[in-house]
Amino acid sequence: MKIIVLGGDGFCGWPTALHLSQAGHEIIIVDNLSRRNIDNELECSSLTPIQPMGTRLRVWQEVTGKSIRFIKLDIAKEYVELRDLLAAEKPDAVVHFAEQRAAPYSMKSPRHKTYTVDNNLNATHNLLCAIVENDQDIHVVHLGTMGVYGYSTGPKIPEGYLQIKVVSDGKEYPHTILHPAYPGSIYHMTKTQDALFFQFYNKNDGVRVTDLHQGVVWGTNTAETLLDERLVNRFDYDGDYGTVLNRFLMQAAVGYPLTVYGTGGQTRAFIHIRDTVRCIELALENPPAAGDPVHIFNQVTETHRVRDLANLVSGMTDVPVQNISNPRNEADENDLVVENEKFLSLGLNPTTLSEGLMEEVTEIAKKYADRCDESVILPRSMWTQAKLSVVDEDVSEADAG
Ligand SMILES: NC(=O)c1ccc[n+]([C@@H]2O[C@H](COP(=O)([O-])OP(=O)(O)OC[C@H]3O[C@@H](n4cnc5c(N)ncnc54)[C@H](O)[C@@H]3O)[C@@H](O)[C@H]2O)c1
Repeated sequence: MKIIVLGGDGFCGWPTALHLSQAGHEIIIVDNLSRRNIDNELECSSLTPIQPMGTRLRVWQEVTGKSIRFIKLDIAKEYVELRDLLAAEKPDAVVHFAEQRAAPYSMKSPRHKTYTVDNNLNATHNLLCAIVENDQDIHVVHLGTMGVYGYSTGPKIPEGYLQIKVVSDGKEYPHTILHPAYPGSIYHMTKTQDALFFQFYNKNDGVRVTDLHQGVVWGTNTAETLLDERLVNRFDYDGDYGTVLNRFLMQAAVGYPLTVYGTGGQTRAFIHIRDTVRCIELALENPPAAGDPVHIFNQVTETHRVRDLANLVSGMTDVPVQNISNPRNEADENDLVVENEKFLSLGLNPTTLSEGLMEEVTEIAKKYADRCDESVILPRSMWTQAKLSVVDEDVSEADAG
């Protein structure tokens, strides 16, 4: 297939582009490099020494003989260029990663909220609108999040759709609806809106879409990024972009107490980056047929409570756990049971925490520990004004400690 990877310079996009290229597909990466600019804004950087795009692609060609093209484009702002690119390249599929993906960053200030809404909604809408304007049949594979469902304790979360009955005037009307959206941040809210864009363009124009509701991604490398150190993937550990498990691994590697927000009773869904790239390949190989509704998969392999993860990492490394006030506005405790049969039935063979965790501590977090800037670890984005003062106290205590 010819595949355009939007957001192919990012944490999930880069290893996906390499994995698909290695599998023999023709890959074009489109990215506006905004994530690298956000690192400049936040004065932090990936724990791993990621290379500029030119170096990444040159090394990939040297090591494998395969070439990947790169086009710098802001898909949220440059509609005409995106439309013309799709018309000229005629891809079979587009994998869409190109959004601002950090919940804390999206809650940082009114400017960050507005940026996240403008960027994410326009990016997704421009893509769908351009496909329809060009009258093309392109399979869109989008990376959504488990966070669209919300995190209240409840029944097992289905893969996207809910079978319901509406009772009205004594009669029962069966319906299939999108699972009710219950976002916990501006970022998650943009993902719930994406789902409506997909539903509309699918119903109205027949656009074929697979929406992957992904859990928190952990791990760093895949078989392809390990081929040369200059292909290394990004590893974020700062309070805004560092996802919880990667943050714990890095904190353990430098002997910094593992900071658990609140009671740590939040249960979240996880997936290793190696499984992310495999799931996307499976989604591309199993596209919706013409006329199918949006395909929705829960792209998760296991669920864990945050404090259990902290204790697990602490037990492996002897680094203590420290509870701090939760910067987020969320339930202290929740259970989470998620259906994920679709990918398993397509042949996904998950990497579990018990197999992969120690390797991440030693191979990545310890190896690059000298690049860690401890001043960026603690949360700096608060969900509400009221939380700002409470967390400031924690932060100064922990900074001192
Ligand atoms: N990382 C996770 O744990 C996780 C979990 C669930 C879902 N996801 C989803 O997966 C996708 C990728 O996440 P990631 O962790 O790789 O994020 P990332 O920030 O590392 O990568 C996103 C990439 O998209 C680019 N981008 C953003 N806006 C763009 C625009 N307007 N035009 C062109 N390029 C643009 C950025 O420069 C960046 O390279 C996101 O949509 C995210 O919501 C990620």
